[in-house]
Amino acid sequence: MYAQAPGRVNIIGEHVDYNDGFILPFAIDKVTKVSVKASEKNYHTMHSKGFDQKAVETNQILRTGEWTDYVKGALYYLEKDYDLTISPLEIHIESNIPLGAGLSSSAAIEVASLLSIAGFFNLNLADKELYLLAQKIENEFVGVNCGIMDQFISVMGKKDKAVFLDTMNMQYDYVDINFADSHFFVLDSRVSHSLGDGDYNARRAECENALKKMGKASFREIDLIFLNTKKDILSTVEYKRSLHVLTENERVLKCKSALESGDGEKVGALLSETHISLRDNYECSCEEIDYLVEELNKLEHINGSRIMGGGFGGSIIMLTDKNFEEKDLEELNKSYHELYNVKFKVHRVSPSKGACIVE
Ligand code: GLA
Repeated sequence: MYAQAPGRVNIIGEHVDYNDGFILPFAIDKVTKVSVKASEKNYHTMHSKGFDQKAVETNQILRTGEWTDYVKGALYYLEKDYDLTISPLEIHIESNIPLGAGLSSSAAIEVASLLSIAGFFNLNLADKELYLLAQKIENEFVGVNCGIMDQFISVMGKKDKAVFLDTMNMQYDYVDINFADSHFFVLDSRVSHSLGDGDYNARRAECENALKKMGKASFREIDLIFLNTKKDILSTVEYKRSLHVLTENERVLKCKSALESGDGEKVGALLSETHISLRDNYECSCEEIDYLVEELNKLEHINGSRIMGGGFGGSIIMLTDKNFEEKDLEELNKSYHELYNVKFKVHRVSPSKGACIVE
């Protein structure tokens, strides 16, 4: 039995999936495949190219801080929440999602593991169960307090479409990506300044505190006029975080319309606006990425770009026109290397289907 699940990019709607906001991600054409078969041993084995093979006792499904945690999380919750008795398995993982590039390789391995193990035992998980269970693995087994975006889109992605998701009520719509002449690229800066999950959790806490001080349960209950009447009772940081959330939701709505009318220039301009808000208000960018975004936006065939994902380093998403060629970035990569002693990597990404069992 084998299943595959894709990584993702997020066009726009950053740091709002845990703030009741709108997001616009798509699943990409890079996947993790997990195959499962019965083992003759009396323990599970997990193997992935480039990593050591691991043996896991069937009654010792515990977090160990290794890559196998994502798979063990799947075994753990399928046994605990679905009463499955999981006999020893041989689990093999293969992936072409670049690791550490902010393309959600972890959501992909969680979703593909759940799908293939559940499938092996003839357990049929509905899409919603699948993405919620994958998020539970990340939140409670691995211990990363992420929102729903990565797991949701890895399950729900569709070819040639992005998904507009309202994370307040989980209502969603597919949006065609039908630019005749624009393409999305991810540029992996290969720098990270994140202090683990500390920065991400700090941003979440700042948003919660801001809401509490304003006496509101959700950012959807307030607008910019209301926020400005509360400026005095908020710290500067809380005000800026709130400003990002409110303006980001507006940009996502505008971006949805621009995508629907195939207006690549408008989409690009909105990406660049989001970057400024993430840099100045959410303060989750860094010097290297700011440098790259500024230089990218000067190039002729780039419509716009911004830092993507959790932030503090990681990747940039950019939209180009049809005349763009990857060699247009060679000079920039040279100057980036001279300044920061590291080279970025570029990946072209296309909207692709979500997770599935492979027959
Ligand atoms: C990470 C999390 C997502 C989301 C983004 C920021 O990728 O896993 O849930 O919060 O950061 O938009």
